Amino acid sequence: MTELTELHAELTARIAAAADVAALEAVRVAALGKSGSVSALLKTLGAMSPEERKTRGPEINGLKDRVGAAIAARRAELEAAGLDAQLAAETLDLSLPPAPRRKGAVHPTLQVMDEMIAVFAEMGFGVAEGPDIEDDFHNFTALNFPPKHPAREVHDTFFFKTRPDGERRLLRTHTSPVQIRTMQRTNTPPPAPWISHGQAPPIRVVIPGRTYRKDSDQTHTPMFHQMEGLVIDRGIHMGHLKWTLETFVKRFFEIDSVVSRFRPHYFPFTEPSAEMDIQCDRSGGEVKIGQGSQWLEILGCGMVHPNVMRNCGLDPEQWQGFAFGMGIDRLAMLKYGIPDLRDMFAADVRWLDHYGFSAFQAPSPVTGLS
Ligand code: DAH
Repeated sequence: MTELTELHAELTARIAAAADVAALEAVRVAALGKSGSVSALLKTLGAMSPEERKTRGPEINGLKDRVGAAIAARRAELEAAGLDAQLAAETLDLSLPPAPRRKGAVHPTLQVMDEMIAVFAEMGFGVAEGPDIEDDFHNFTALNFPPKHPAREVHDTFFFKTRPDGERRLLRTHTSPVQIRTMQRTNTPPPAPWISHGQAPPIRVVIPGRTYRKDSDQTHTPMFHQMEGLVIDRGIHMGHLKWTLETFVKRFFEIDSVVSRFRPHYFPFTEPSAEMDIQCDRSGGEVKIGQGSQWLEILGCGMVHPNVMRNCGLDPEQWQGFAFGMGIDRLAMLKYGIPDLRDMFAADVRWLDHYGFSAFQAPSPVTGLS
């Protein structure tokens, strides 16, 4: 008994003297650890007679419990004191300004894409989307590009490896294949949830998206963005096309006096085809729209070719339509005075800080464009 009392007194003193959690842990190991002093006493129980164990058992186990409880209490005390010390040492000056936080910005291409969609939405257009990875049929054949026609080559296509079944996928060279996907009504579900289903005429959609061509210089990047437009209805003619695009240009540039002209051109998927130019002034090193005597080409357009309609299962005797396609990045550069196309895709945050838009400047027909 005296031996236990002594051990208890000694351990109690050591627990009280432990100045930190590490010292306390050392005491715990010395007493209750595998070869600790209390554990050694517990081991002696096995060799005792049953009577002796009856009295010694509760004594030794009682000591173990008391020491354990004392250690737990001291640990709580030390931890609380540690926290108090930390709170006393650390001060927080709530009057200091917060550290500057980097804010994200909306890339001009996306901003302008939304602006364009907002303008066309005002005119009753919906939005359709298609896949970046296309097949020859949607990108060329259905759009009335004859096989081996040189028009295919001007597109400088990125091709994937030919598959065992002979099919060669490609990165779409324009957004025009989505015209086909929009007009064609098939029973197969679209390959991804964001890809639009085919729809029955009347159709009025714009189609924004990424496009790819093997082309890289000051005015071309291998990836760029286009917005396609497609209108299919009865009795549609060039007058509808001209009004729609002239209205778009004035609204998009927010300049009522924009003068435009339509020059005859060739695209396999439209007949007649045209390019639209807007009048501008390039004299001061930057392009000013709505003034001057020079012309700037901004888009391609035309009446949907009867072959394209037929390729999509539409009867060109019943349905007519027009289509157009324009470069979103180029329009963004023009509208916001961005000098070099390559900077648009250099992913330089300093550039984005300068040319980017706040997420709160979301263009809409109600709130305005920018
Ligand atoms: N797909 C053409 C290109 O990338 C642009 C274009 C021209 C689209 C005329 C059209 C169109 O829908 O009618 O060069």
